[in-house]
Amino acid sequence: MKISPQLNPPSLRGSVGSRPLFGAGLALLIGAIALTAAADPAAHWTASCAACHGADGAGHTRAGRMVKVSDLSSAAVQKAFTDEAAFNAIKNGLQTSDGVTQMRPFKDKFSDEDIHALVAYVRTLAK
Ligand code: HEC
Repeated sequence: MKISPQLNPPSLRGSVGSRPLFGAGLALLIGAIALTAAADPAAHWTASCAACHGADGAGHTRAGRMVKVSDLSSAAVQKAFTDEAAFNAIKNGLQTSDGVTQMRPFKDKFSDEDIHALVAYVRTLAK
């Protein structure tokens, strides 16, 4: 499990720094709260999507080139699919017409709420 740095801001570290064990426990607690909290699409994107689509959505990654992702940072590309299509693609996965998996389904990993938040996040990537 990766706890991202912003979960442990300097202001917190300052106040608990003299008691390292308490500090570590607090950091874990904050991490646990963040993991159970409502959808955090940016973190989900980084953890589950960016390997193929790239942090910026342009898909300039090794995996992205291999599976031929289109450029989600392009407004024109984003106009070509509806929110509903994006939701379904993330939830149920995508296959080519001859049945090759392009993107695996994420329905076991993310709730519908998480997926809606991811669709909204994807929309912010278009320039
Ligand atoms: C294994 C690589 C891979 C991963 C990981 C991946 N995708 Fe994709 N994704 C693809 C490919 C390939 C396509 C189809 C080509 C395209 O439109 O880019 C695609 C298409 C899409 C589309 C366009 C859907 C449409 O109807 O055209 C969206 C939106 C999307 N992905 C979002 C996500 C999100 C959100 C995640 C993380 C939860 C994710 N992808 C993870 C490879 C991946």
